This record gives sequence, structure tokens and C-alpha cells, in this order.
Amino acid sequence: MIEILSPAEVERGKRTGALVADILHGLKARVKVGTNLLEIDRWAKAMIEAAGAQSCYVDYAPSFGRGPFGHYICTGVNDAVLHGKPHDYRLGDGDLLTLDLAVLRDGVAADAAISFVIGGAGDDESRALIDVTERALAAGIAAAAPGARTGDISHAIGTVLRQAGYEINTDFGGHGIGTTMHQDPHIPNDGRPGRGVPLRPGMMLAVEPWVMADTDVLVTDADGWTLRSKTGCRTAHSEHTIAITDSGADILTLPSSS
Ligand code: MF3
Ligand code: CO
Repeated sequence: MIEILSPAEVERGKRTGALVADILHGLKARVKVGTNLLEIDRWAKAMIEAAGAQSCYVDYAPSFGRGPFGHYICTGVNDAVLHGKPHDYRLGDGDLLTLDLAVLRDGVAADAAISFVIGGAGDDESRALIDVTERALAAGIAAAAPGARTGDISHAIGTVLRQAGYEINTDFGGHGIGTTMHQDPHIPNDGRPGRGVPLRPGMMLAVEPWVMADTDVLVTDADGWTLRSKTGCRTAHSEHTIAITDSGADILTLPSSS
């Protein structure tokens, strides 16, 4: 089912989105060389609870994971690109970290992800991976408007990734979101323009390009959740929740100070 949210619900989605962004950027500012992924998970839990929101992850048990996720945020390091399950690991200088967070507040969910390098400026490959996912995200959002279709978003993302020389995996991608985190339609990170579901005002969508440096093949970690690049190469992921408006799309997951 494709959900169309009322203007009041989209307003609530904007508040949930600002909370998600504030938590992600607050964590980014706090995470240092030596921070343990389990500390990040504890901080995320505390920040979600302090805001009176609920985790979309802790009890989540979809077919693509083994049992409930059991944590509050996804933490993917280097080759871990999606659904990174927090574990006892201390971040090192130069590690590429992806944080992915979805919460529900006042009945409306929001989902966002950021990737960044720990410590110094980072290596060229990491910077290129992060940059291409951010550019693909911006292109996907720019293609989102009433009258366009999900395939237009997919095509815009895929064009940026492909032109940068990356192979694209379409097994996991963007999705509808609203009163729950994962809804139809699926928005693969590549596709044909003019195809797919027509976009309408009141639709909320999570747009989430991700990329692996030298492969399009994922492997599942022994933890039953974390998806890694098969070759062990580095990866990046950027995600926003947007709402289709009468004239285009609003980004809901922007920090409250922006
Ligand atoms: N937020 C992720 C997505 O972008 C889903 C993570 S599910 C989890 O769609 F259970 F792994 F957290
Ligand atoms: Co998502």
C-alpha cells in the first residue's frame, strides 16, 4: 500500500525528521578515534528516549535480518554498508563510518543516513565514495516532484553513480515511509525514467543511494544483519526522508538549526 499523508502528518514528519538529523549530527560531533560502536548505540538510545520518540529498529525483524535488530542505530564501518549491527569495536583514525537512524514520533517515522571519516581528512577513495552518494542523493531528490515517477528518482541516482564509474546493486534501495518505516514503493538506486509509481503530494519517501568501491556484490556478516562488500572494499551511504509537495519535494531530515 502507498500511503498519502495529510499536511498535518507531513508537518509531524518534519519534526521527526529534524530529530533524526539532530541525533545523527550530534553523534557525528561526538564520535572520535577510540569511540566504541556500542557507545554510539547507547547514546542514540538515550537521545531517542529523551525526545519522547520510539526506535524503528530495536524490535524490527524483517526477512532480510536474523531476528530482532536489537539496537537503536546502524553503524557500518568501511566495508559494512547497510544494516550495520553495532558491536564491540573501537573506531580507528581513517575509518569510514555510516550511521543510519529511523525513529517514530507522534505517529510519523523518518529515516536518514550519513557517512563520514573518523579523525583526519580521510583518504581519496573514502572522500570520493561519500561525495558520490551525497551527489546521487541530491540528484534523486531533485527528480522528485508530483507528476514524476519513482523511476525518475532511480534514474537520476543511477546516472550519478554510473558516471562516477560505480557498479550498482538494486537489491536494497529507497522506500515509502510514513506511519511505519518501510513501505511501498521500493525505489531502486537505478532504473528507467518515466517508469514506476507516479509521485503525489503527501507521499513520504526515503531516498538512499549507497555504493561499494569495486563491486556490486553484498555478503551478510555472521551477525545475520550487517551487509558488507564481498571484496572487503570501502562503502558509503547517504539518505534523506522527503515529502512530495505541490511543486517538488521537501527534505524532512534536516537539522533543526539549518
Ligand atoms: N534505515 C534502514 C533503511 O535505510 C533500515 C535499517 S533496518 C535495521 O532502510 F533494522 F537494520 F535497522
Ligand atoms: Co531507509
